[in-house]
Amino acid sequence: MNYNKKTVRDIDVKGKKVLLRCDFNVPMAKDGSGVITDDKRIRAALPTIQYLLDQNAAVIACSHMGKPKGEVVPSLSLKPVAKRLSELLGKEVIMADDVVGPDAKAKAAALKPGQIMLLENTRFEKGETKNDPELAKAMASMADVYVSDAFGAVHRAHASTAGVADYLPAVSGFLIQKELEIIGGALASPKRPLVAILGGSKVSSKIGVINNLLEIADTIIIGGGMAYTFSAAQGGKVGDSLLEADWMDYSKEMVEKAAAKGVKLLLPVDTVCADAFAPDAKSQVVKAGEIPDGWQGLDIGPETVKLYCDAVKDAGTVIWNGPMGVFEFPAFAKGTEAVAKALSETSAITIIGGGDSAAAVQQLGYAEKMTHISTGGGASLEFMEGKELPGVACLLDK
Ligand code: 3PG
Repeated sequence: MNYNKKTVRDIDVKGKKVLLRCDFNVPMAKDGSGVITDDKRIRAALPTIQYLLDQNAAVIACSHMGKPKGEVVPSLSLKPVAKRLSELLGKEVIMADDVVGPDAKAKAAALKPGQIMLLENTRFEKGETKNDPELAKAMASMADVYVSDAFGAVHRAHASTAGVADYLPAVSGFLIQKELEIIGGALASPKRPLVAILGGSKVSSKIGVINNLLEIADTIIIGGGMAYTFSAAQGGKVGDSLLEADWMDYSKEMVEKAAAKGVKLLLPVDTVCADAFAPDAKSQVVKAGEIPDGWQGLDIGPETVKLYCDAVKDAGTVIWNGPMGVFEFPAFAKGTEAVAKALSETSAITIIGGGDSAAAVQQLGYAEKMTHISTGGGASLEFMEGKELPGVACLLDK
């Protein structure tokens, strides 16, 4: 797939109406107060928005939020996003009451150069997730140009992320450009050695990534819950740890494939296991594959920490996706924290996939030390799997 896409600098947006797809799917307080608990994704869109406004474009921003499944769900309205965006920009953000209804159309028609408005949650429309051409056409009819900066949603072939590009000249914003350059660059021509650290609970959700990175990486490090499936596949005892029995054969194959390809595949050599899945559970360190019945692995052990931290020391590039243990419980966050610290100290290019690993790095205070923290969870995972990203494929080639 070609990632060399035209950006907002490659077309004339001066005085034009620009439909700008952002990923404003931000976490909100659970109490329904409309408080945004992390505005990183809104901040990440600011450079493109500011550029467009500076070019005197009239910006019609849009995004999805949550999964309202084609219904108008008031708690998933983008109104709190408009408010926050307005605070960050220091200017009015006109909020539409709908996506392609009379209010959005009237406000878009009246929008002047240098002004910005936000459409309601695109997933309030049934056609959004079906990539309905009629919806795409209706969205496109409000603008002259389409700019996508919604990296977090580029793995979705939806009306607002891909469909609209059939009706308007389509280019990327600066956020997508940066994500493509950094993650794409690391996958296509990494500074070696390339070390991939893969964690998280399930092998099944990382199959594509492991498979693709086996073709690219020099070293693959496995941690998190999925390590127990690898351990069981090697004949280890995993007690009550997370186990995907259906994926044991696959895990074995991956170990064999790595050996055949000369890729170093590191598995935990010891484990911190607990007598319950609880923050205050009793814990002990045991050798990998020797977890007693009634106990479950919740973190990598100290010997593994040493092994993994040594492996990233001389890396040229490190890609990290998925925590090493249950980092939400401080007693079982040591492995994840040690890896984050090791990454903060290496001179390697460090790339953190979105989702849990981004949250872990943030929570543990190492975010500033990383080269790049992706704003996409599923999107960065699919990118690392080598899959075509519909929200990128639809943009004009350079
Ligand atoms: C995300 O949060 O990863 C993106 O906004 C995509 O959201 P989705 O998984 O609901 O499509």
